[in-house]
Amino acid sequence: MAGPLGKKIAEKFDEEIRFFKGWIDGPKAVGAILPTSSVTARRMASVIDIHSGLPVLELGPGTGVITKAILQRGVKPADLYSVEYSEDFVRHLREDFPDVNIIHGDAFDLDKTLGENKGLVFDSVISAVPLLSFPVEKRVAILEDLLNRIPDGRPVIQITYGPLSPVPAGRGNYVVQHYDFVIRNVPPARLWVYKRGRT
Ligand SMILES: C[S@@+](CC[C@H](N)C(=O)[O-])C[C@H]1O[C@@H](n2cnc3c(N)ncnc32)[C@H](O)[C@@H]1O
Repeated sequence: MAGPLGKKIAEKFDEEIRFFKGWIDGPKAVGAILPTSSVTARRMASVIDIHSGLPVLELGPGTGVITKAILQRGVKPADLYSVEYSEDFVRHLREDFPDVNIIHGDAFDLDKTLGENKGLVFDSVISAVPLLSFPVEKRVAILEDLLNRIPDGRPVIQITYGPLSPVPAGRGNYVVQHYDFVIRNVPPARLWVYKRGRT
């Protein structure tokens, strides 16, 4: 296949294969068979306030579909911190996004993972970590940790494939909002927003 369209299709196919390999190696850690669609990625990135002057935290970038949407939203690469657990994805992400802070580590242990940047205040958190692979107590704990890293009123947005919020309401100091149901995603995805406050 020749030309720019052919190159784009080949790149997308390559990305899907890489993602699928990640799924074969660790289905629970990857949590999806295909990368998020660009439509969903843009919806997630739309919650970012690019005028806040604050950096953005991304969790579970995988092959970088959402990373790309965050940059297209107008976030400067140096203001994006993307935490990825898989070494293989990290290697590719560093090649594809050399100016983004790609951090290899565990989103559930952010003080350690962020190291000297653990005190940063972020504008918002864009998360694709497969929360449903973890016990509910861990999901509540990570959400509380994330909300401590952003100003009150700012969102943590999470993608999931089940019908319910992966972090149930009424378990902590946060409110849960169903943000969107995106059919143009395989499988169709739900987006949930969490903010500080009582339910
Ligand atoms: C459903 S995939 C999403 C990938 C990509 N953002 C997308 O939307 O196509 C989940 C990603 O989270 C990563 N991940 C899983 N557990 C993690 C953890 N504890 N800390 C950081 N990343 C994690 C996986 O390696 C994978 O890249």
